[in-house]
Amino acid sequence: MMKKLNKINLAVLISGNGSNLQAIIREIQKNNLSARINVVISSNHKAYVLIREKKAKIPIEILNFKDYIKHENRKIFEKDLIKIVKKYEVDLIVLAGFMVVLSKEFLKHFSFRVINLHPSILPKRLNDNYVILPDKTKSPVFRGLNAISQALKHKVSCAGCTVHFVSPQIDKGKVITQALVPVKTKDDLKSLTKKIHLQEHKILIEAIKILIKKLCKF
Ligand code: GRF
Repeated sequence: MMKKLNKINLAVLISGNGSNLQAIIREIQKNNLSARINVVISSNHKAYVLIREKKAKIPIEILNFKDYIKHENRKIFEKDLIKIVKKYEVDLIVLAGFMVVLSKEFLKHFSFRVINLHPSILPKRLNDNYVILPDKTKSPVFRGLNAISQALKHKVSCAGCTVHFVSPQIDKGKVITQALVPVKTKDDLKSLTKKIHLQEHKILIEAIKILIKKLCKF
């Protein structure tokens, strides 16, 4: 569906450091991204500090996932999440380090409107379990948690990051864009993570720009 608007409305969902959120805020402030963050939703209390420090004046909603889980209220968590996203009239949901897996039911409400950032190379053919690297070697696909440590453990020649649509199967949605990060022999978790994060900040903006073109008619 094409929307006639000049800015896309985002909800950015986070759980951790929020460096990717900062990258989006920075690009918007520099007028490099026709987007508005209508709301930041965090699954813990860290984000509040972040937004306050940046004085970005973005509404922030905290849905403390651990509290919901304690009361076996996963469904209520998603119901509350849907309410917030609808209240803020969001066009695109960006999972930027959001550590909660969203269900098929949730995704039905926002078909092709939820994107995720994953710190490894995901295959273009979704069911493949390997990717071919630039030096023609094969690398396993590192889905789920600890993708960067897994890449190091497998001594791959190249790691990377991917932005993809979210599907009910973890890290198996259609790829929107990705970046490759060569692994040097001296790389450890800290150095490789840093290099991957730098690329993530770029490809996330690139992916949002691609989707702005798809979703908006200027
Ligand atoms: C990123 O590495 C992303 O790929 C993963 O979570 C991390 C979030 O980093 N899904 P930050 O919170 O944006 O700094």
